[in-house]
Amino acid sequence: VSDAAESDLIERFRAARADSARAVLEGFHPLKHALRFGARIELVVAPGATPLSALAEQLAPELGPWLARHLTLVAPKVFRELASFEPEVLAIAGRPTVEVGGLLAADGRAPIVLLEAPSHLGNLGSAVRVAAAAGAAGVLTTGRLDPWHPAALRGAAGLHYALPVARIGDLPPTPRPLIALGPAGEPLHLGDLPADAILAFGSERRGLGPALRARARRSLALPMRSGVSSLNLATAVAIVLYAWRLSRSD
Ligand SMILES: C[S@@+](CC[C@H](N)C(=O)[O-])C[C@H]1O[C@@H](n2cnc3c(N)ncnc32)[C@H](O)[C@@H]1O
Repeated sequence: VSDAAESDLIERFRAARADSARAVLEGFHPLKHALRFGARIELVVAPGATPLSALAEQLAPELGPWLARHLTLVAPKVFRELASFEPEVLAIAGRPTVEVGGLLAADGRAPIVLLEAPSHLGNLGSAVRVAAAAGAAGVLTTGRLDPWHPAALRGAAGLHYALPVARIGDLPPTPRPLIALGPAGEPLHLGDLPADAILAFGSERRGLGPALRARARRSLALPMRSGVSSLNLATAVAIVLYAWRLSRSD
């Protein structure tokens, strides 16, 4: 790769990180899931082909031929300039457009996770990951964090491509029942969660704000031993989603 091509590459990644229509995938797992769930990959780069094909061989053999066709090799010193740490591979992908209105209107067979102003990208990513695994209909977030930030994509292992994920302002009116989750709610029992619910979780420090609590049909809590004040946000999302998933009849 020539010097000009190198600076072009650095500029492409810089621009992609600032572009709300694109996502930067850092590492093999995000790339693997993005490809499995139909992401449009624009560019994939790595400092060497051998470690990457060994990883693919071990973890996702179906991706080997794709990587062999699309991988651009770059000098290690250039690769180090593309990310704040050194993943095995980096990619630029398109972000799917999310029709929030349609998602909220649908008479869903699976709940939507609503994260109110999460403050930790790792928690956000873990919530997306478990939402994808449990078969949730989507993940909506409010607040300042971009749910498609590379660190959230890393936390989700790229599973943003498996379900709709979008940041919204205030929650628009919706026929779906809103269920507030928080330590002060009534104890949650299996079967309590309607399949079409919006499951609203609060931020790490402050919990769910009054506006969403006031709109909730019910406020439910995961029972905890006396003296424990709350669960980690992503842990609470995981338990609640699997309480729904394991108690559904189909
Ligand atoms: C770290 S907690 C926030 C703690 C905050 N002080 C509060 O009282 O909500 C982050 C979020 O995880 C969810 N959460 C944590 N523990 C929970 C529990 N025992 N039951 C239901 N949701 C819980 C809630 O949605 C909460 O807003």
